[in-house]
Amino acid sequence: MVAQVIDGKAFAAKVRAQVADQVAKLKEENGITPGLAVVLVGEDPASQVYVRSKGKMTVEVGMNSYEHKLDVDTSEADLLALIDKLNNDPAVHGILVQLPLPKHLDEDLVINSIDPAKDVDGFHISNVGLLGTGQKSMVPCTPLGCLMMLREHHGSLSGMDAVVIGRSNIVGKPMAQLLLGDSCTVTIAHSRTKDLPDVVRRADIVVAAVGRPEMVPGEWIKEGATVIDVGINRIDAPEKGTNEDGSVKTRLVGDVHYASASTRAGAITPVPGGVGPMTIACLLANTLTACSRANDLPEPEGLTA
Ligand code: GUN
Repeated sequence: MVAQVIDGKAFAAKVRAQVADQVAKLKEENGITPGLAVVLVGEDPASQVYVRSKGKMTVEVGMNSYEHKLDVDTSEADLLALIDKLNNDPAVHGILVQLPLPKHLDEDLVINSIDPAKDVDGFHISNVGLLGTGQKSMVPCTPLGCLMMLREHHGSLSGMDAVVIGRSNIVGKPMAQLLLGDSCTVTIAHSRTKDLPDVVRRADIVVAAVGRPEMVPGEWIKEGATVIDVGINRIDAPEKGTNEDGSVKTRLVGDVHYASASTRAGAITPVPGGVGPMTIACLLANTLTACSRANDLPEPEGLTA
């Protein structure tokens, strides 16, 4: 079997276009422009790239983007004061504090100081509890993107066996809750799981989110299963030669060994170009959802869990 490639880049572009349409409608019919505030503390290069990209795409779908760049040694009190200001600003519908934060700041305290209704990351303890009890919440962007791709591919997921490899608060646990919400039989596997190959072999849906390059070989995948690869790992690629400074060139791989898995899976997301682009698309979808709820308007269709 040769797997169908699930094109996350194309699907994310479609989601962003849907968001842009809805934003235009909100502006025209209600005079409201959704606003997303992104807070970056310090100068972590990867975080700077993410924040720039988020800002650009926010503006592209017609929303207002508010970027707050703070010094690496910003005090907790100053950061909490900014969040309080954003919580009370009616032009701001979504707030995202880029993680990781510098060590002297308490991440849990900071995240839980965001108004849950504006918590477009879905990390606030209230949103975690609401998702876990099947109530209306803000859902973390990466698992929401994975769910959208699975629904697009399968229609209904009801009764399917799903395994989520990885138990992080950002991906693994909310992913499992979402699959349960869509009536899958869900297993959460992790580093202490006994006989992981056997657990994966039973699954109709495999979501890999461990951050270990190519740790899931194709031989673990059930014939025809759908594979969603959340991993983004940079590894040496000596076959590509060396850079000008003599260092070995690199390439991005997922948590799944793509070449072997794609000979067994029914469908698979590539890395790059799979889950990655869906994360920002879902951040924009969440901002639109938060804005609609704040104004007692109907929620955008197809963009929520
Ligand atoms: N850092 C890396 N990914 C994320 C994300 O999805 N949200 C936030 N807030 N920080 C991140």
